Amino acid sequence: MSWRRRIVEDGYQRLLRPLLFRSHGGDPEKVHEDMIATLGVLAAAPGARDAMRALTRVPAEPVEVAGIRFPGRVGLAAGMDKDGRAALAWQHLGFAFAELGTVTAQAQPGNPKPRVFRAQASRGLVNRMGFNNHGALALANRLAVAGIFRGNGAAGIPLGISIGKTKVVPVQDAVGDYLTSFDHVHPHADYVAVNVSSPNTPGLRTLQDGGAMASLLGALTARAAQLSPADPVPVFVKIAPDLTWPQIDEVLAAASDHGVAGVIATNTTLSREGLAAVDAPLAYEDGGLSGAPLTVRAREVVGYVASHTDLPVMGVGGIMTAGDARAMLDAGARLLQLYTGFIYAGPALVGAINEEVR
Ligand SMILES: Cc1cc2nc3c(=O)[nH]c(=O)nc-3n(C[C@H](O)[C@H](O)[C@H](O)COP(=O)(O)O)c2cc1C
Repeated sequence: MSWRRRIVEDGYQRLLRPLLFRSHGGDPEKVHEDMIATLGVLAAAPGARDAMRALTRVPAEPVEVAGIRFPGRVGLAAGMDKDGRAALAWQHLGFAFAELGTVTAQAQPGNPKPRVFRAQASRGLVNRMGFNNHGALALANRLAVAGIFRGNGAAGIPLGISIGKTKVVPVQDAVGDYLTSFDHVHPHADYVAVNVSSPNTPGLRTLQDGGAMASLLGALTARAAQLSPADPVPVFVKIAPDLTWPQIDEVLAAASDHGVAGVIATNTTLSREGLAAVDAPLAYEDGGLSGAPLTVRAREVVGYVASHTDLPVMGVGGIMTAGDARAMLDAGARLLQLYTGFIYAGPALVGAINEEVR
């Protein structure tokens, strides 16, 4: 391990993480907001930007997926930077791409707080954020102001944008609601991720059912083709780890039938298996569980998808170590995304994975 990575790893795990986990009275959401705001500021300061880059940079091998050239395999998962406030920062932390959002057609506050809980002994998180975001248009405007448009590389790395359903819109009207978000974000997205797998919007996961899935994906890919006939923006679909194999088959059939570019597996789980005894009370909190308790199931789902379709898979869920990343790639993932692992291990995890992958 290089001295730089050791500084970043030890500095985060021994100094910064304990401080962060205790600050704001231990409220993970407030810490998160501070982190995103700080990263947004640092990304705009050339000195800080260069320092972040120098400390975290580990060469990665580029890979082309769905016609997009990714400078490496490790990306940031959706939900970390919902409103794109730190869109320019992720490249400097070593990420090869970032998935912004999930945004919805209408701005919405999300669920009542508290709505994120650390399962520290289990290296997990339970969240029921409920798509709190300022809306698809606000994200599009922010990216436009930053000069970030599809394919222009202004964020330094490809950016995906995840779209979801506005809570107050009934599930039967979901297609129109997704299309509104799509229309706003598509000029800025290197790919669009269709989130039908958050457990925190009532009814959302029913959109993964065959018929509903086909209508939604069909409408979105048709709109992509209509808006850029020569080069439609790739559409990915993100699935839940709690689906059965026949349910996954239905999603894959709909995805293949409608020219979807790839699958993102997985979102958080409703299962509470794998929680350490001290975290057991979190089993009674509503929401989705992420992190180490999800590692094995997410990898299983990635393996299933990769072996039942030719569509490329982005593997996400419980990648806490470089070994987990390797196993996810071995299961068939072409690209990886991190959320909870980044919270527990810090930015050194990205470099460690790049080193492992090389
Ligand atoms: C606090 C929090 C918020 C999240 N928000 C979103 C979101 O808005 N959209 C989405 O597709 N996934 C969201 N996720 C799920 C992650 O993108 C990821 O799929 C999941 O956490 C599993 O990966 P992990 O174990 O590396 O965290 C969220 C996860 C967490 C912990």
